[in-house]
Amino acid sequence: MKILLVGSGGREHALAWKIAQSDLVTELLAAPGNVGIDQEPKCKSVRVSPNDFSGLLDLAVKERVDLTVIGPEAPLVAGLTDVFVANGLNVFGPSSGAALLEGSKVFAKDLMKKYGIPSADFESFDDYDKALRFVKSARLPVVVKADGLAAGKGVFVCNRLEDSIEALDKIMNQKIFGAAGSRVIVEDCLEGEEASFIAFTDGVSVIPLASSQDHKAIFDDDMGPNTGGMGAYSPAPVVTQQAHDRIMNDVMLPTVKAMESEGRPYTGFLYAGLMIRNDEPMVLEFNVRLGDPEAQPLLVRMKTDPIPLMLAALECRLGSQSITWDDGAAVCVVMASAGYPGSYSKGEVISGISAAEEINGIKVFIAGAASSPHGVVTAGGRVLGVTSLGKNIPEAISKVYEAAAKISWNGVHYRKDIGRKALSRS
Ligand code: AMP
Ligand code: GLY
Repeated sequence: MKILLVGSGGREHALAWKIAQSDLVTELLAAPGNVGIDQEPKCKSVRVSPNDFSGLLDLAVKERVDLTVIGPEAPLVAGLTDVFVANGLNVFGPSSGAALLEGSKVFAKDLMKKYGIPSADFESFDDYDKALRFVKSARLPVVVKADGLAAGKGVFVCNRLEDSIEALDKIMNQKIFGAAGSRVIVEDCLEGEEASFIAFTDGVSVIPLASSQDHKAIFDDDMGPNTGGMGAYSPAPVVTQQAHDRIMNDVMLPTVKAMESEGRPYTGFLYAGLMIRNDEPMVLEFNVRLGDPEAQPLLVRMKTDPIPLMLAALECRLGSQSITWDDGAAVCVVMASAGYPGSYSKGEVISGISAAEEINGIKVFIAGAASSPHGVVTAGGRVLGVTSLGKNIPEAISKVYEAAAKISWNGVHYRKDIGRKALSRS
């Protein structure tokens, strides 16, 4: 089979690496891909942007692609799946109607309220003055969220009234996220420990991946502004068997059913970002794709070939499928450019990737890097993710940091506490 993979981040490198191992796959084209994907067997990057729907369609038709896999949220929300389906092509990823679950937080919150899916109490506003009046009377801390896509940066957890006023001003007046900030959610702040719960779904059956946990803040101990994710590990011990059952029965299955009832049948990866307390999950957000960086440790642990699962999802026969996992643990540490998630420089020469990969059980997934006459250089905020597979979390942590220490460039920054929360539970 020939696969077209849409996207260029660390998640897509991990997907390409995993998909290329499938006996069913002869070739994988990545649009636009990255320098890491190009190093994988069977894989080749093609210069077509994820936003260029007609270019992607032409490519899929010309290359006789058998299955397209869409990595990031923006093309899903904008309707790339719909374009491929309308042209009779196989594509794994929700339609734009279903992707609204991530594309609009107001839609997601209204859906959860209507169908009794556990989530924080909230109000939504499209008027700044009304929102301002509400936050002035709201109990602190409070969470202010832009409605639309904001690359993981549209959420402000506010401990002081000044912070919530500033968040509203940035989102609704300064429009720092553009049209994504035309509406806001103001919701109660939840307590507990976060986890990511991701599953394959065909619109009826839900086949969960292993549990994982992201680290969204830029600095150790969850300090500083939120990023796209600075590291992740799997499994996440906070997702006990009891929590897992609650998540499946109270969140995942009812959400898939609700989407069907709303006339928005859902096929693809469904990701619930959760706050868990005493084994009880509350939904913070839905994403309509694999998490980045959660995909990296998950795909390193996944033993099953994902291609038959994706094909089964398209044919609504996921119910007969299952996934097996490495019994150990995987940890991914994201290495970022100085200044991220604010502005950062590019073009710094990266050294030590091969030395890191010489360590048994280490795989480096490239995100924002490019080739240059001087070797591989930085080209994004999140540059790469060093990922380890170990017998357990402590072993995976010590391996991943031994490997990360071998990689460097001017201004490299990474968190030193990825996985620590799991240690405190094991
Ligand atoms: P989201 O993109 O909605 O998942 O929000 C990004 C991050 O903000 C989450 O991973 C949490 O750390 C935090 N967050 C979002 N909503 C809440 C909430 N209601 N209570 C506490 N923290 C939250
Ligand atoms: N790591 C969180 C996300 O992919 O949205």
